[in-house]
This record gives sequence, C-alpha cells and structure tokens, in this order.
Amino acid sequence: MTFRAHILGAAAGGGLPQWNCGCENCNLARAGEIPAQSQSSVAFSANGDEWAILNASPDIRQQMAQAKVLHPTDLRKSPLRSVLLTNGDIDHVAGLLTLREQQAFTLFATTEIHQVLADNPIFAALNPNYVSRVQIALDEEFELVEGLTAQLFAVPGKVPLYLEGEEVQTDLLGEQTVGVHLRSEGKNVYYIPGCAAMRPELRDRIEGADMVMFDGTLWQDDEMVQAGLSQKTGQRMGHMSMSGEDGSIAAFKDISVARKVFVHMNNTNPVLRPRSDQRKAVEAEGWTVAYDGLELTI
Ligand code: MLT
Ligand code: MN
Ligand code: ZN
Repeated sequence: MTFRAHILGAAAGGGLPQWNCGCENCNLARAGEIPAQSQSSVAFSANGDEWAILNASPDIRQQMAQAKVLHPTDLRKSPLRSVLLTNGDIDHVAGLLTLREQQAFTLFATTEIHQVLADNPIFAALNPNYVSRVQIALDEEFELVEGLTAQLFAVPGKVPLYLEGEEVQTDLLGEQTVGVHLRSEGKNVYYIPGCAAMRPELRDRIEGADMVMFDGTLWQDDEMVQAGLSQKTGQRMGHMSMSGEDGSIAAFKDISVARKVFVHMNNTNPVLRPRSDQRKAVEAEGWTVAYDGLELTI
C-alpha cells in the first residue's frame, strides 16, 4: 500500500479567481498569468483504488473530472468510498449536493457538523438509501477508507459564517472545527485546513508527523483589510496567518514534521503567485504551497 494524498482544491472559500474579486491575484489568474486554484479539498487513498475525499467543495464536479484517480471504473462505479467533513463551511459542504446521483458512500463528520447538514433540508438530496451519515466522536478511531484509519480532534475555530450570531468566539474548541489524523502502515499525516491558533496540545499531537497539511488562508492577518477588500482579519475568520510572531511559519519552526504543506489559501495570499517573495520565503522555511492536482506520496 502507498499512502497517497491528491490535492483537489488548494484555495480557500471563493477560489482563485473569486467571481467578484478584482484583486491582483484574481486578475492574474483570470489572465492566465498565475495558475487558478479551486476550493479546499483533498483526496486520500492507501490502496490507490478506493478514495476518501476530505471536504466536499463547490468545485467538486470539476475536481473529480480532472483527477484521473477518481474517474468511474465501470458504468456506475466510482472509486469514491467516503467523504469526511472538517467543518460546516460552505466551501467544505456545498459539494455534497453534487454527489447526489444515487452513489453509495459514507459521510463522516462530528455530531455537530452532521447537525448543520440535518438542519438544512436541501441536503436530503443525499438519498439515505445510498449515503450513510456516520457520526464520529472526537478522538474516536475509525476506518476512513480501506487501509486508512482516521481520528478527529478539536482545533481552535468558529461556527460557519452563515451561523454566526451577534457575538462570535473565533477560537472555540469543540466539534465545529476539527483536524484529522490519518494513519496507514505506521505513517502519520495530519489535515488541518482551518485553525485559529497553535496550542501546546496541537503541537504535541503533530510532533514527528510524516506530513502536515495546514491552514494557509492568509499570509498576513490584515491582508484583506490592506487590500481594501474587507474589514475582516484572519483572526476574525478563525484562521492563523502564515507570517508574524503568532503565525504558522513561526509556530512550526520547532515542531519536527517531515513534510509541511499549506492548503486552503485565500485568493489574496501572495504565496499563490509562484514568483512572489512570500512564496520564496515559505519555501525557504521548508513548506510546500499546495496546488490543484498536486499528488503527495507518503
Ligand atoms: C473560511 O474558511 O473562513 C470560510 O470558508 C469562509 C467562507 O465561508 O467563505
Ligand atoms: Mn474555508
Ligand atoms: Zn481576489
């Protein structure tokens, strides 16, 4: 068995380019001067034939068409066995509606994330005769797909944007935002596309990992404010930034991880420009910036 990760979408919600965004990156992507990136999703397999998709992005139809490993192998036979959700955000659940075509798979998520789907009747489009919704408790070990076990753990985050009330706690630790520990034949991989802060428990957990895929939403906390696009900081969105004292690059400096990969980049993030100084800086720190179609073998 070979532990494989296939990046289906490297961008955060909105994608690159985002439909209504005229920022530098979005314009460059529209002009074909930098690669476009679709929304946050990654597929994992241990045997190469059966795959799990982590987060179902609104771009899943196109992503599956582009990923050979996910093409049907017979009339109505898909290599997709399961989908696992790490939060209830639109960029991670909207693709479930595309997966409604009477195809059997297992939908894994915490009770709280399942509740978000249950509260939205449109998700009844996933016929229960085909799609079984399985609730996973934090730290419970389960088989995600043949040869691959997984465990969910809480990471600091917030409820989905569309469920925000007046007061928003952006570093909640609970079932609404989780990271995933994937294991196959002694290899340990972590997938953490959203994380508001590095905490000692998280540091201890990922120490010694073979690979960590981590929240790469913003380069700098006030990047969208500086660009005149939004009043929102990364912290307000529940994402830690790459740069700065509290950033992920600094946080990972003293954690031993064999392969560090940034995922879930917002379209404003300068690392999405292959020749930017920021891209060179993250690569010099040993990080890979994910891109659509990147396949990683562990
Ligand atoms: C996020 O990761 O912060 C969300 O996906 C934002 C959104 O829902 O657009
Ligand atoms: Mn997101
Ligand atoms: Zn943009």
